[in-house]
Amino acid sequence: MRLDKFLAHHLGVSRSLINKELKAGLITVDDVVIKLGAHQLTLNEVVTYQGNVIEPIIEKRYFMLHKPAGYVCSTDDPDHATILYLIDEPMSEKLHAAGRLDLDTTGLVLLTDDGQWSHRITSPKHQCEKEYHVTVSAPLTIDLIEQFARGIALKNEPELTKPAKLVIVDDYHAHLTINEGRYHQVKRMFAAVGNHVESLHRQRIGSVELDIPEGEYRVLTESEVKAIH
Ligand code: URA
Repeated sequence: MRLDKFLAHHLGVSRSLINKELKAGLITVDDVVIKLGAHQLTLNEVVTYQGNVIEPIIEKRYFMLHKPAGYVCSTDDPDHATILYLIDEPMSEKLHAAGRLDLDTTGLVLLTDDGQWSHRITSPKHQCEKEYHVTVSAPLTIDLIEQFARGIALKNEPELTKPAKLVIVDDYHAHLTINEGRYHQVKRMFAAVGNHVESLHRQRIGSVELDIPEGEYRVLTESEVKAIH
């Protein structure tokens, strides 16, 4: 992360004020005076202002990301860029996705360092809704609404899926709301009824609705964070 952004965030003042302090030589990074706001900080570097160490903020953090296709949600994939490449925050490696999306799936990913909060999204016990926009390769039929509401037998799984709400938009497009998160669940639900998911996008988790362009992220509002309970 840029030094001026780190300082503005941790000292709670504007970047222009930070730049004056930088020019005045009041900031050090690992004991070296740094005057350039664009200086990239690395983890474990010690930043001081007027001789006082700036302790990293330890409050819990909550973000929404509009994930593009081609990024993985796990943090240690040797072959693909991870979603953390899109997050310019200090210690972003401490964040995790509250419910992953496949490499080719786009849409809403919630990121946090609060394990209890993300558990409320991912644990089946809490029944947190996830809404997906789905494009399929074969025409959708009305009877699927009933089948998905009753539960679907997924390949190699003894338990039916929990009741899911399917809204058919047109022959090849639907919105599917589920409140569990089994492995590749949406793709496997459509495969189980003889169809195939061409593209998949997550639009909503609980009451948190995706509202930013692809590739961008933002901090969740307090009410969005509290709405996940
Ligand atoms: N279901 C899937 O099949 N893939 C996703 O990425 C999310 C839900």
